[in-house]
Amino acid sequence: MDEAVLKVDSIGVGYGQSRVIEGLSVSARSAEIVALLGLNGMGKTTLMKALIGLLPVRGGAIRLGTEELTGRSPHERVAAGLGYVPQGRLVFPTLTVEENVEAGLVRGERRAPPELFHFFPILKEMRRRRAGNLSGGQQQQLAIARALASRPKVLLLDEPTEGIQPSIIKELAVVLKRIRDERGLTILVTEQMLSFALDVADRVVVLSRGRIIHEAPRAGLDERALGKMLSI
Ligand SMILES: Nc1ncnc2c1ncn2[C@@H]1O[C@H](COP(=O)(O)OP(=O)(O)O)[C@@H](O)[C@H]1O
Ligand SMILES: [Mg+2]
Repeated sequence: MDEAVLKVDSIGVGYGQSRVIEGLSVSARSAEIVALLGLNGMGKTTLMKALIGLLPVRGGAIRLGTEELTGRSPHERVAAGLGYVPQGRLVFPTLTVEENVEAGLVRGERRAPPELFHFFPILKEMRRRRAGNLSGGQQQQLAIARALASRPKVLLLDEPTEGIQPSIIKELAVVLKRIRDERGLTILVTEQMLSFALDVADRVVVLSRGRIIHEAPRAGLDERALGKMLSI
């Protein structure tokens, strides 16, 4: 088995006095897509924010390859090879598509890598439009392209299907797998939507109340049991 590229070891995360994530460990290998499933309020976004450095961890460690990320700023983590697509996408609505992608650049690069548009041809067509005028699905593609502009090794995607039409969700799964295949990208994606997770992931992890309660490879997965874990 390959070494983990992303290795999260027993972290805790919370807000003030409240603890949301407790002793959580999860890892992802090179070019692996891991889906972290959980209902609303289970701690998916809290975990993602801690991984990118927007929230501090209480104990534990976050490693990318051999680099220790714990305690580093979000900017340093991006420079180290972590990409982040926040829940709700958060594109810059008044900037153009091209400017949004360029906002993701690091290391002194000034132009978005042209091959990015090869994954998202619609963004190329719309590159001079303001991002605020794009559909939800197009904004999601833009947020992913912006995160890929820094050429990450590991992409963190927080609930990418939220508020997106079913047909576009299918396309999103296809393009993510294509990017993984062509770039060797590792992806950790949080989701509530089981069907999308099953479409996209090599391995599925279930988060409940800040803890991992189940973990299984996609192949041979018991979908009914998983469905039950994700019903209230
Ligand atoms: N800024 C915050 N301050 C205090 N509690 C928060 C904050 N953000 C989220 N929480 C709480 O943390 C828990 C997990 O939330 P969140 O990580 O957003 O879950 P998910 O992304 O799985 O829906 C919830 O109980 C939520 O109310
Ligand atoms: Mg969330």
